[in-house]
Amino acid sequence: MPADNVILVGFMGVGKSTGGRLLARRLGRCFVETDDMIVARDGRAIPEIFRQDGEEAFRRLEGEAVEALRLKSGEVIATGGGLPCHEGRMDALRALGTVVWLRGTLPELVARARRIGGRPMLAGRSAEELEALYRIREPYYAQAHLTVDTTGLGLDQVVARVLAALRETHAARV
Ligand code: S3P
Repeated sequence: MPADNVILVGFMGVGKSTGGRLLARRLGRCFVETDDMIVARDGRAIPEIFRQDGEEAFRRLEGEAVEALRLKSGEVIATGGGLPCHEGRMDALRALGTVVWLRGTLPELVARARRIGGRPMLAGRSAEELEALYRIREPYYAQAHLTVDTTGLGLDQVVARVLAALRETHAARV
């Protein structure tokens, strides 16, 4: 039986962490972030892992985090923006529960992620390079069970849309 988690995927800056935390509160569920799992296990901050060991090493740690997620059920899980974007990863996430893609317009997402900071994947990349990265990632995100467009919405509205979409699919399964 598939575990009944809700898994949020999407590009940096879309609000997976803040939205996920609020969604978990609304659903009375626990909230976990793959980035936090990696930091807790490794002991270094993410920018430090990128700087010292490189992106490939970080992606391996993400793979280990996905393995560890198999122990979870009934939780809300926010994933790092690049985590789903490898062969087979979306299948692994879909097996954990209902996967929701939070999408938005790239300039807005990048501006928000830059404002918050601590995103090594943004460092030194031009708008064109980020656009190319987004295009590579989009087909992976698009394999989510549900898509919620966050454009122009506040946090509460995003969470309300996710809840409505979840209710609809759960009703459809009955
Ligand atoms: C990354 C996104 C980050 C974090 C790491 C790499 C990416 O998470 O996992 O910096 O490759 O897009 P957020 O999506 O929460 O910013």
